[in-house]
Amino acid sequence: MRAEPAVAIVGHLAVPGDKSISHRAVLLGALGEGETVVRGFGRSGDTQATVDGMRALGATVEDLADDELVVWGVGLRGLAPGTVDCANAGTLMRLAAGILVGQDGSFELTGDASLSARPMERIAEPLRLMGARIETTDGHAPVRIEGSGALKGIEYAMPVASAQVKSAVLLAGLNASSPTTVVEPAPTRDHTELMLEAAGVRVRRRPTSVTIEPAAALRLGEVAVPGDFSSAAPFLVAAALVPGSDLTVHDLGLNPRRTGLLDVLERMGARISVFNRRRSAGEQIGDVHVQPGELVATRVAGAEVPTLVDELPLVALLASHARGETVVEGAGELRVKESDRIEAVTDGLQACGARIHSREDGWTIKGVPTRLRGGRVEARGDHRIAMLGAVAGLASREGVEVEGADSVAISFPGFYELVEAVAQRS
Ligand code: S3P
Repeated sequence: MRAEPAVAIVGHLAVPGDKSISHRAVLLGALGEGETVVRGFGRSGDTQATVDGMRALGATVEDLADDELVVWGVGLRGLAPGTVDCANAGTLMRLAAGILVGQDGSFELTGDASLSARPMERIAEPLRLMGARIETTDGHAPVRIEGSGALKGIEYAMPVASAQVKSAVLLAGLNASSPTTVVEPAPTRDHTELMLEAAGVRVRRRPTSVTIEPAAALRLGEVAVPGDFSSAAPFLVAAALVPGSDLTVHDLGLNPRRTGLLDVLERMGARISVFNRRRSAGEQIGDVHVQPGELVATRVAGAEVPTLVDELPLVALLASHARGETVVEGAGELRVKESDRIEAVTDGLQACGARIHSREDGWTIKGVPTRLRGGRVEARGDHRIAMLGAVAGLASREGVEVEGADSVAISFPGFYELVEAVAQRS
């Protein structure tokens, strides 16, 4: 795929439903009583793996439309033994592990080559502390679980700030004999807690920890999934970079633990406004308007990192166009995402003419306030890197060749069509 330069990014758009929330709606729906209707479901390679996985374990999922489905739950401990192919979806593998340790019978979680290279002891260790029988394969998938009715609640201080680890422990806590607390080194996305609360579970949320009580039953009823902030991010960044742009993204999920990119964009000088703010089942939603500005360098570190973890590759691209030196640090987690995103971003942006260098836990980027030359970005099977390459192309002088562009379908199958809808070429 070749991403040609754009003269402006203009228009109004909406993006598919949030991937994190879509996974959780299907997983919790499968554990629920009766019917859960999911509207605004973000259908993609990852979320389809969750639908197929829950079907494989005995839940019924009926597709009403591409973005709408009904899940008939089997109850909190009613999943049938079997294997779930998690494909590329880390969220599915880690959250499913938390659910399956409290079921009856034997389960196996498998994944593709990328997922099978990602660390799984980070969930197995706390789950074992709860009494779970769970084994990884040298720290990785396949993960094997012997379900147990004898889980106990724990207080777990996470060594890394990970919403997936937090969620795995909390979901196991649903079937435990006492309350479960997870303490976070920095606040991570809280979609699991919010949805559990909406399903009737007793949840106590504090700024850096969360406690849930064991549950008797889950009742979600209906979940309205907001637009995925991480899918909107490439468009927000393209509009901030390309002079003359004027873009509005509607009905976007604005959970404050996800929107660190908006703060970074404002700090760097882009013109951002948020309007039509509202709430649904604890999640914040709104419309975001972006226009470009003269971008200046910034620093991203510490507690801000989890609030934009999936957007950091795009921050590196912004910084390549911003006057001064930007440092991103404390983001070592990027090395264990769908690819080693620190190296994938450095290699890709260097190949387009950017002055970016990898650090162990981030990058140092010397920006210049002009278009990059362009070149070639290798996606390495990673959807976020493919989207980075496409945005780099829009903002470049000569365009960018994206190698492995198909991987966008992992989170956003219609991505390129939407790019063409808002990119003005002359
Ligand atoms: C996710 C959590 C984050 C994020 C991933 C989705 C989730 O991962 O990068 O894309 O839905 O909980 P970590 O928990 O590994 O940080």
